[in-house]
Amino acid sequence: MPNKCLIFAAALLLHGLAGWAQTGRIGSDRCAVCHVKQSETFSKNPHKKAECESCHGPGLAHVEALNPDQLTLFHGAQPNQVNDACLTCHAKDHRQERRFESAHSRNGIACVSCHRVHSPDIRKTNDALCSSCHRDIRATFERPFGHKLSQGAIHCVDCHDPHGSQPNSPLRLSGGGHDYPCFKCHTDKRGPFPYEHAPIRTQLCSTCHDLHGSANPRMLARNNVSQLCLECHTMTAGVAGGSPPAFHDLRVERYRQCTVCHVKIHGSYAHRDFLR
Ligand code: HEC
Ligand code: HEC
Ligand code: HEC
Ligand code: HEC
Ligand code: HEC
Ligand code: HEC
Ligand code: HEC
Ligand code: HEC
Ligand code: HEC
Ligand code: HEC
Repeated sequence: MPNKCLIFAAALLLHGLAGWAQTGRIGSDRCAVCHVKQSETFSKNPHKKAECESCHGPGLAHVEALNPDQLTLFHGAQPNQVNDACLTCHAKDHRQERRFESAHSRNGIACVSCHRVHSPDIRKTNDALCSSCHRDIRATFERPFGHKLSQGAIHCVDCHDPHGSQPNSPLRLSGGGHDYPCFKCHTDKRGPFPYEHAPIRTQLCSTCHDLHGSANPRMLARNNVSQLCLECHTMTAGVAGGSPPAFHDLRVERYRQCTVCHVKIHGSYAHRDFLR
């Protein structure tokens, strides 16, 4: 809490000095006289070049009245008001351009829910932040087969962009339709393959995998492979059934291990049925 006496003295001084400021702006140095703590931490903040008033609005009326009501305040403000204040500068940032489509925007999660604007670590990338709201999702990472988030091998933001999402997917996709974030690490799945397995292109990886964690090996969405495949392939001639032309005899255990033969299930350089 600023010392009241000092404040009074400073207010008088500023009152005189501020006459020239037609805009009602007084400059950050003046704010520092009374708001010592905020000004100190702010010098380590990426916004340090920004004036206090670029976010809080002109300060002259505030120092005359010593009343914060004259300022733009953020506590208790509507998320959109806060966001608009940030976006006066950040709207130009292409990384923000999908913001209005994001589930966070639509659900009233403001910039300051995730960014502590006065703190030097304004950019909190840690998973704890995401997990504080998405507890249920965090819990699924503890299932037997999952990405090793707890060990720091992957982070929520490797797959998700907190600022936006694609129309049909919450995934971080940078380029055209299928530039999955997964390819950054799983480069062998990127292709392009001469023989593509259609759903890799037309659907999400999550059609077949539970990426937050799964009870099944390979993070598969079903507990046996054939069940997964047959959800799409019961109608494919030659697959199901016990008599010719269907040579896959599904009564025989061997045939139910689809990926023992169809080893290049994400796409092949050599075989149209992904056998090699
Ligand atoms: C002469 C001293 C003085 C100066 C200069 C001053 N303030 Fe203040 N400010 C105060 C006082 C006193 C309060 C009210 C504190 C309270 O109510 O807890 C306050 C409150 C605020 C608040 C609201 C704090 C809260 O807890 O909600 C903000 C934001 C603020 N000032 C920003 C600024 C900015 C930005 C500047 C420079 C443009 C500035 N102040 C200049 C004295 C000053
Ligand atoms: C980039 C925008 C931005 C700038 C620049 C900025 N502030 Fe803030 N300020 C905020 C936001 C947002 C809050 C609300 C607290 C939060 O959510 O982090 C806040 C809160 C405050 C408060 C209330 C007490 C608190 O810590 O919550 C004071 C006082 C304050 N700011 C003063 C200043 C001063 C002094 C400067 C310049 C040194 C400044 N601000 C620069 C955005 C900004
Ligand atoms: C006056 C213009 C301006 C306003 C208003 C503004 N910013 Fe910034 N912001 C900047 C600049 C300049 C940078 C540093 C350059 C950069 O990283 O893009 C920055 C950087 C950042 C960063 C990135 C820090 C990093 O490590 O890369 C975050 C996060 C951020 N701002 C959040 C906010 C939030 C939240 C608000 C609203 C409360 C806000 N900004 C309002 C100009 C502004
Ligand atoms: C749900 C949490 C969340 C919300 C809401 C959010 N951010 Fe971020 N922001 C992050 C995280 C996490 C990062 C770091 C991303 C990374 O490391 O890949 C980040 C990074 C940034 C950066 C640095 C550049 C970048 O994209 O990596 C800027 C600038 C930024 N945010 C501004 C904003 C603004 C402006 C808003 C409001 C319109 C906002 N953020 C809303 C979580 C959030
Ligand atoms: C302040 C609470 C809060 C924080 C912090 C938060 N979220 Fe969210 N998030 C929500 C809400 C609310 C929704 C919308 C309802 C839902 O889908 O659960 C949402 C939705 C999402 C979605 C679904 C997107 C879609 O298009 O369906 C993803 C993905 C997401 N958040 C990821 C993240 C990540 C990654 C972080 C950390 C950078 C994060 N969230 C931090 C509250 C939060
Ligand atoms: C390996 C990549 C990956 C990581 C890491 C990841 N996610 Fe996801 N997440 C996905 C995929 C893929 C989907 C899409 C599921 C679907 O729609 O089929 C998704 C969906 C979501 C959704 C929306 C749908 C739902 O299930 O409610 C939220 C919210 C979400 N993730 C939050 C998080 C949070 C929080 C973290 C970190 C604790 C995280 N994710 C880490 C890949 C990932
Ligand atoms: C940051 C790097 C990274 C990203 C991004 C990533 N993964 Fe992974 N993934 C790994 C690592 C490392 C392993 C193996 C070690 C482990 O269990 O964590 C793995 C394991 C897997 C496995 C299980 C492999 C097995 O042998 O059991 C599947 C399936 C998988 N990832 C799919 C995906 C999909 C789909 C995405 C995108 C939505 C994705 N991954 C994004 C690093 C990543
Ligand atoms: C049509 C279903 C399907 C889709 C879609 C799919 N996968 Fe898979 N994936 C599988 C199956 C089945 C396995 C297990 C293969 C086995 O048993 O050897 C697997 C295994 C994996 C593995 C671990 C074994 C290996 O080959 O490295 C990774 C990593 C992987 N998938 C990544 C991805 C990525 C990334 C995507 C999205 C681009 C994706 N998957 C989409 C069915 C699919
Ligand atoms: C989400 C639906 C889906 C799933 C799940 C799926 N597939 Fe496919 N698969 C397709 C589609 C669509 C095609 C292309 C069929 C076409 O072009 O006629 C295809 C093509 C194939 C082909 C090439 C044959 C051809 O007609 O071109 C083989 C082999 C195949 N899938 C095996 C599998 C196996 C094995 C699994 C389980 C690991 C599996 N598929 C899971 C949808 C799926
Ligand atoms: C013992 C090895 C083996 C197993 C196990 C196996 N397949 Fe095949 N599959 C093949 C071979 C070989 C072909 C190619 C047949 C041909 O070219 O005439 C094939 C062809 C296919 C085709 C393409 C049919 C067409 O009309 O082009 C599909 C789809 C398919 N398999 C799905 C599956 C599914 C789903 C499973 C698990 C239920 C499975 N396969 C298990 C060996 C196997």
